[in-house]
Amino acid sequence: MDWNAILYDNKHAFVYAKGDSLLEMLRPQSHERILDLGCGTGFLTNEIAKSCQYVLGIDSSQEMVAKAKTEFPELDFQVANAIEFQASEPFHAIFSNAVLHWILEPEKAVKRFYQNLVPRGRLVLEFGGKGNIHNIIETLNQVIIAFGFHIKPISKQWFFPSISEYTTLLEHQGFEVQHAELFDRPTPLDDAETGIIDWLSMFASGFLGHLEKDVQEQIKQQTQENLKPLLFKENTWFADYRRIRIIAKKIDA
Ligand code: BEZ
Repeated sequence: MDWNAILYDNKHAFVYAKGDSLLEMLRPQSHERILDLGCGTGFLTNEIAKSCQYVLGIDSSQEMVAKAKTEFPELDFQVANAIEFQASEPFHAIFSNAVLHWILEPEKAVKRFYQNLVPRGRLVLEFGGKGNIHNIIETLNQVIIAFGFHIKPISKQWFFPSISEYTTLLEHQGFEVQHAELFDRPTPLDDAETGIIDWLSMFASGFLGHLEKDVQEQIKQQTQENLKPLLFKENTWFADYRRIRIIAKKIDA
């Protein structure tokens, strides 16, 4: 995943702009060390930093981390991924917004969370849950088929679990789940002309990247057109996001 950090900030600010209330659920304390997993360009890391002793932002994208360091030079950021990152000192909390659906080996990530937390440390997580972007992907797939190409399984791109699927993983690892919810969050996209096309350009290369550029553009255009009755309202495009939100505590081994 090598995202364009400028496009991310200019056209996809909704990714972190929706993180506010998750931050309220984190409730950082002044003595705490907190890990912001998948920090992107560092906006929420900076918010967390205002109330805790130390925060580290990690992201698997070098470009994002470079931008975060430029924006917030007083904070610590590191290029690292959820599965491999090993903390030198454990954290009181791991916070993650809009990232974990990219991790296709969630049991490995959950194991790492456990290792990187102090006893009774907590997870505060939000990401795409079961049914996330159903209309976008369903419509994209219909258009790809209509153009005569094969479709790729969504499970090879993203992990959108149900509550039971994810909480079971956590419990098996030794977490106690204190809060779990799955809810619709139709999310406005920035551009009234090209909202879905931009979204697909940013995120759907796993479905389209192997096709000729001009075919990709035609498919994106057609997908947007077909989605209009479903996702275009009051002159605004909405992504049909569904969020899973979890708070869980590490139980003493
Ligand atoms: C999401 O935030 O739900 C998401 C973003 C990009 C691709 C897939 C899902």
